[in-house]
Amino acid sequence: NGYFTYDPGFMATSACESKITFIDGDKGILLHRGYPIDQLAEQSDYLETCYLLLNGELPNAEQKVAFEKLITNHTMVHEQLQFFYRGFRRDAHPMAVMCGVVGALSAFYHDSLDINNPEHRHIAAIRLIAKMPTMAAMSYKYSMGQPFMYPRNDLSYSENFLHMMFATPCEEYKVNPIIAKAMDRIFVLHADHEQNASTSTVRLTGSTGANPYACIAAGIAALWGPSHGGANEAVLKMLDEIGDVSNLDNFIARVKDKNDSTKLMGFGHRVYKNFDPRAKVMKQTCDEVLTALGINDPQLELAMKLEEIALNDEYFVKRKLYPNVDFYSGIILKAIGIPTSMFTVIFALGRTPGWIAHWLEMHSASYKIGRPRQLYTGSVQRDFVPVDKR
Ligand code: CMC
Repeated sequence: NGYFTYDPGFMATSACESKITFIDGDKGILLHRGYPIDQLAEQSDYLETCYLLLNGELPNAEQKVAFEKLITNHTMVHEQLQFFYRGFRRDAHPMAVMCGVVGALSAFYHDSLDINNPEHRHIAAIRLIAKMPTMAAMSYKYSMGQPFMYPRNDLSYSENFLHMMFATPCEEYKVNPIIAKAMDRIFVLHADHEQNASTSTVRLTGSTGANPYACIAAGIAALWGPSHGGANEAVLKMLDEIGDVSNLDNFIARVKDKNDSTKLMGFGHRVYKNFDPRAKVMKQTCDEVLTALGINDPQLELAMKLEEIALNDEYFVKRKLYPNVDFYSGIILKAIGIPTSMFTVIFALGRTPGWIAHWLEMHSASYKIGRPRQLYTGSVQRDFVPVDKR
């Protein structure tokens, strides 16, 4: 009717102003609060990046220590939360469990939370960043039938996560510094990505004034899909399905076939039409980790061959389909012993500060409830017909 724009997939709609993350998809630039992602991945660490996303500036030495201490103080979850896990089938996908248990946090912190109070918003942000590794590791432990491990405050954020994943009451997990560093870098590379589907979901949910833990649970649900965060798991499944380099041509032919819905998982991006700067750092990390751990994975060889074909094949070149962050992250995660079903949970953990930073930004200014319009294509008005006349 001239007032609304029809924009399926929000290809050309800005729904908010933001000072958090800048992306230039044609040039392959990604900046958090102005800092390039490669510099953050190589020179910063995850908790410092969280501080930057939440507060707008890097912490000084004193602020850095205080922030780490604050996060460490909140790593435990309420004992009763265990019962929420126990309500799930053991073979439930950990992302299904995460949607439930993170949403359940809203039942634990509702009375002490006034979203109009900046201090209350801040403590919700801290709690979420602090508890996500504990809750993610619990979803894994539950699926394995192993006891939940309590967080250890003498360890760094990533070391502690690995400890809660892999230690048991009978055996300590000796954290390999190469693995802990790779884990931390994976978290940094996922920390934020402006208005992607899950962040937009968090903002949309938040725009109704909903509880922040429920908003993050909504973000987790949106992230789970294979077109978004679920792609890292889908990459490994795809490599399993291809199986051997000799089957690659057949697989690529299926991807190109208009009548076949097969996609090359870990390739393509809505915004990056040149290269994904996160993928560049991820690839380098992948090489470093595999060399340092002495891993010679035939799946990696397959992945590299696939990448080579895709980068040179006209179908992919014409559509500007480059490897994205999920293509390499799965290979690293596999190399460091993370089970495939946990890949998207790791993405959710890493993306948590981004989701919260956007939620905080929205609540620190005036905002409107998110309410898209539609292009109605249904029936025109008609009169009701009683059942005996139909
Ligand atoms: N394999 C094969 N063809 C593809 C792929 C792919 N991965 N991605 C897009 N295309 C084709 C698509 O079929 C279309 O072809 P045509 O013009 O002939 O119809 C053309 O490229 C344009 O694609 P589109 O679907 O319009 O692109 P989009 O911006 O809507 O989708 C995407 C972006 C990421 C959802 C999509 O590229 C995709 O599904 N990729 C695989 C899943 C994946 O790796 N997702 C992770 C994204 S990065 C991490 C994150 O942000 O979560």
